[in-house]
Parts: sequence; C-alpha cells; structure tokens
Amino acid sequence: ARITLRQLLDHAAENDYGLPAFNINNMEQGLAIMEAAEACDAPVIIQASRGARSYANDVVLARLIDALVELYPNIPVCMHQDHGNGPATCATAIQYGFTSVMMDGSLKEDAKTPADYDYNVDVTRRVVQMAHSCGVSVEGELGVLGSLETGMGEAEDGHGFEGKLDHSALLTDPDQAVEFVRETKVDALAIAMGTSHGAYKFSRKPDGDVLAMNVIEEIHRRLPNTHLVMHGSSSVPQDLQDIINEFGGQMPQTWGVPVEEIQRGIKHGVRKINIDTDNRMAMTGAIRKLLMEKPGEFDPRAYLKPAKEAMRKVCEQRFREFWADGQASKI
Ligand code: G3H
Ligand code: 13P
Ligand code: NA
Ligand code: ZN
Repeated sequence: ARITLRQLLDHAAENDYGLPAFNINNMEQGLAIMEAAEACDAPVIIQASRGARSYANDVVLARLIDALVELYPNIPVCMHQDHGNGPATCATAIQYGFTSVMMDGSLKEDAKTPADYDYNVDVTRRVVQMAHSCGVSVEGELGVLGSLETGMGEAEDGHGFEGKLDHSALLTDPDQAVEFVRETKVDALAIAMGTSHGAYKFSRKPDGDVLAMNVIEEIHRRLPNTHLVMHGSSSVPQDLQDIINEFGGQMPQTWGVPVEEIQRGIKHGVRKINIDTDNRMAMTGAIRKLLMEKPGEFDPRAYLKPAKEAMRKVCEQRFREFWADGQASKI
C-alpha cells in the first residue's frame, strides 16, 4: 500500500534503521526495487527526478507505480519527487499520486544557481503548507551539494558552478538547520556534508576531510527528532566499475560513499539515503557484458533481464546494509 515519507521515516527512527531511496525511470528499475523489497521484507521509497518524469511520461510513471503497489500488497511504498525545483513541480507530483515531495530550495528554480537562505525558507514553507494540506510529506535541503576536494558546488545537471565555493557553503550549518526546520516544518532534511551526485565523488577513499560525517552528528544532536537525508550516497563499488571497464566501458577510477559511513549516519539520525548511480552502473555493467558475450543478440529482453537482476541485487544489499530488512511486515 502507499504510505507517506513521514510515516516510513518515523518507523525507521523508532526502530533504528535507514531506508534507501532508489530512483526510477522505467519498468525494469521499478520491478528490481520491488523484487528486492519483497525478498527481504523491506519498505520502499521510490523516487522520480524531473528528468525521470519527462523521460517516462507522468501518466506512464503514475500507472507503473499503481501496478507495482498492486503487485506487492504487503510492501509499503512511498512515491517521492526527487529534487523538486519549485511549487509547480511538487503540486503536479501530488496530482499524480506521489505521497512525498522534495522541495530543493538550496538552488533557485532554474536548478543551477545557489539560492539564498531566505528564498529557501520561503519556498519550502509554502510547499509544506500545500503538501501537508494534501496529506503529503516534504523533504527540504539546506546547504549546497558539492565536493570538498575541489570546492565545486553542484547544479542539478551535474555541472559545477562558476567559481569555487568555500567549505561553509558546502557544509550545512547546524544552527541554521535548527532555524530552517522550525521555520519550514519539513518532515525530513537533506544536508550537505561533502557528497555529490554521480560516479565521481572522491579521488580516493574518503576520510573525514572530504566526507564530513561529524556535521551529521552535530545536526542530529541539535535536531534529534528531524529525519536526516543523505544525497549522493552511492558507494560506487569497485566490482561495478570493473565490470563496466572489462566489457568495453571507460570509467576512470573513482570512489563513492563507503557503506560503513552511511551506517554511521544511520546511527545519528540519517533515515533516507538516496541511491541512483550504483543502480545505473549495475544495469550498464550487465548490459555491456551480455552484449559483448553475445554480439548477435538483438532482443532487448536478453539484456534488460540481467540488467534488472543486477539492480535487484544492489537494492537488496542496501536494504540489508541499512537494517531495513524484516521491517515491512512490522509497519
Ligand atoms: O539527483 C540526481 C538523481 O540521480 C537523478 O538524476 O536528474 O539525471 O534523473 P537525473
Ligand atoms: P547518487 O548519484 O550518489 O546515486 O545520488 C543520487 C541522489 O542523491 C538522488 O537525489
Ligand atoms: Na529526494
Ligand atoms: Zn540528490
């Protein structure tokens, strides 16, 4: 059945676990997430970016979610708008049956320019009023995602901003977080602490200088009842890099967010962990392998099925690593 983000994350907080939020763009990804959840009895957060909504088409996506919910009646499903850029995006998500929206007011509506604090508070507060009146949850974001290694802040299209940002802009300020939550009444708060979207997060295994888990601990100390969200939380596993490169890909060596750092976050208030890149890499690796090994193959099912399987494995692993397995039937 459908459930709000607030209900899911309250349960996760009461029972000391975290929930991966997986991005969806197509049927295979939806099936992979649900098959993994069913296999380990985990509740589900599926999220769609603006790009996903236009890629799949809103109507197709909405009916696909209906089908997944119907197919797995025992799995609670939260359908979430990832990185909403303004009230209109959030409102149309709600019209299509989403039970949660992210209003990302850390960037302006163009999703390219860093926004100031007052804009963020104002737009997020308005979305919270609108969404809560529809029984829908809201995630806000405070602080700009980006690399502490390079000082590059990140626009939605993955390109860095002009010029460098200093550490203070790339790390959520704990005092401001307290004020932001009080002023906006968001259900969950995404914070910036050194992660970025995509595969190229760190040029070596991250330590505390580039992945500031201490910021999470500090924010959790001041906001013990606020559900925290980690974006850019793919681990970019070595085996997925290797399979892509073994079968004709060219991905330079890179490092993501180690699972043990996420587990440390879960012990300090992190309840929603956004993961897209790991699933993209799992699918791409499986497709490359199949097509290299069977160059005569031309039935899309021949490569989409192993792609779905590879994503299912990643999803199941994350459910278990974040201690969400066995929780669906307890909700
Ligand atoms: O926020 C980043 C997610 O990985 C979604 O990416 O905007 O390319 O669909 P996208
Ligand atoms: P990754 O690119 O690390 O998977 O992050 C996804 C994300 O934060 C979506 O909002
Ligand atoms: Na989100
Ligand atoms: Zn994100």
